[in-house]
Amino acid sequence: MDLAIEGKAYINGSFEKCCIGIDQGIISSIKKISKGDEHLDFGNKLILPAGIDVHVHFRDPGMIHKEDFSTGSLAAAFGGISCVFDMPNTIPQTTNLQVLSDKIITLGKKSYVDFGIYSCITNSNIKNTREIGKKCSGFKIYIGSSTNSLQLGTSNLREAFKEVDSAEKPVLIHAEDNQCLNRHKIKERNLVDHLHSRPSECEEKAIMDILESSRNINSKIHICHLSSCEGLELLKNRAENVSCGVTPHHLLLSVEKNLKPQSRYKVNPPLRTSFDREILFEGMRNGFIDMLESDHAPHTLEESDVDFGNAPSGLPGVETMFPLFLYMAKKRMLSFQRLISIICERPAELVGMPKGKIEVGRDADIIVVDLKKDCKIKSECLHSKCGWSPFEGWPAIFPTHVFVRGEKLIEEHEMLGNQGFGRFVGK
Ligand code: DOR
Ligand code: ZN
Repeated sequence: MDLAIEGKAYINGSFEKCCIGIDQGIISSIKKISKGDEHLDFGNKLILPAGIDVHVHFRDPGMIHKEDFSTGSLAAAFGGISCVFDMPNTIPQTTNLQVLSDKIITLGKKSYVDFGIYSCITNSNIKNTREIGKKCSGFKIYIGSSTNSLQLGTSNLREAFKEVDSAEKPVLIHAEDNQCLNRHKIKERNLVDHLHSRPSECEEKAIMDILESSRNINSKIHICHLSSCEGLELLKNRAENVSCGVTPHHLLLSVEKNLKPQSRYKVNPPLRTSFDREILFEGMRNGFIDMLESDHAPHTLEESDVDFGNAPSGLPGVETMFPLFLYMAKKRMLSFQRLISIICERPAELVGMPKGKIEVGRDADIIVVDLKKDCKIKSECLHSKCGWSPFEGWPAIFPTHVFVRGEKLIEEHEMLGNQGFGRFVGK
């Protein structure tokens, strides 16, 4: 055995003192006692599966002044995330095999953690879905317009789903109806205006269309970043292959909070009311919402600290997601079972990865957590190029150690890993 990790591990829904054996990056045994070439005893610290973030925008290629795959994946690693899935609104956009292949090569040289890449289904490339599906990790569909995104008209949704079904890859959807957004356009001066220009009825309309068009489709369909109580209500009767996610910012922030400067917190879908926020938090806690996704969408401070109407939309969050919720689990605001389900297990299921659980046969993607070591989030300690966090000063618990496929990437909050270690996960 190459490595044995000992501690209080989260196995099958509860914590037990045990020893995790690892061979060639895979968990090979879970026993009371075992010996590896290298034996690491973490005493009473928690040993958890690393997280998977199914929704990041690492801006590479094309906007690497905001982020690139090395800084984005570095941030992910420090936040206990061993695998990220990158959205297609880069420049060029990931809409064909050539761009996808180039991205697999260039990002593979930069990434600290494992990564997947989505391809975007647009009105003009629907017919190539099956072919691109042989290589990409999944698909993204934007029904409504957002930052630098190509859309798919609602009338093409059914056809796109049929193509995805034959490609057998998950499809993630930004659910805001474009016609609805166009009807509500107003001059925006602050977050309340932004909320009014993207009301929850646009999310509702998009979700209704998705549920209607996906009847008898078997592929996994994931509704990204749910933001409204109306949206959640509609999803309560969803089919088994339909899942939904929520971001930390929609769970923790709302327009009533004193967020300054307002332009930095512009995001699509928008931050809504504390009522929506509370309903979403409850939905995350009771299992109606399947998973967390950061929607890490960095913009520089120069870009964001401008007149509200001209500011880009998007918030960073890949590094702070797991640490914020680890702290909340410690404070019993959610159970460890829910925490691991929403950040590790359900994301792994969606993207079909043998990760997200401490189980024989799965990748040894593991984090070590000392619950006594909470801290306050400080932007200057984070690793994204964007240089700020919407959660500045919030309490959090960062993992002390991070292993990806049995390789010690982070030891006592220090990076030991290398760019290019991360592997593309797709086919
Ligand atoms: O606010 C957003 N920012 N929403 C999106 O859908 C895209 C993202 C970005 O890429 O900046
Ligand atoms: Zn996004």
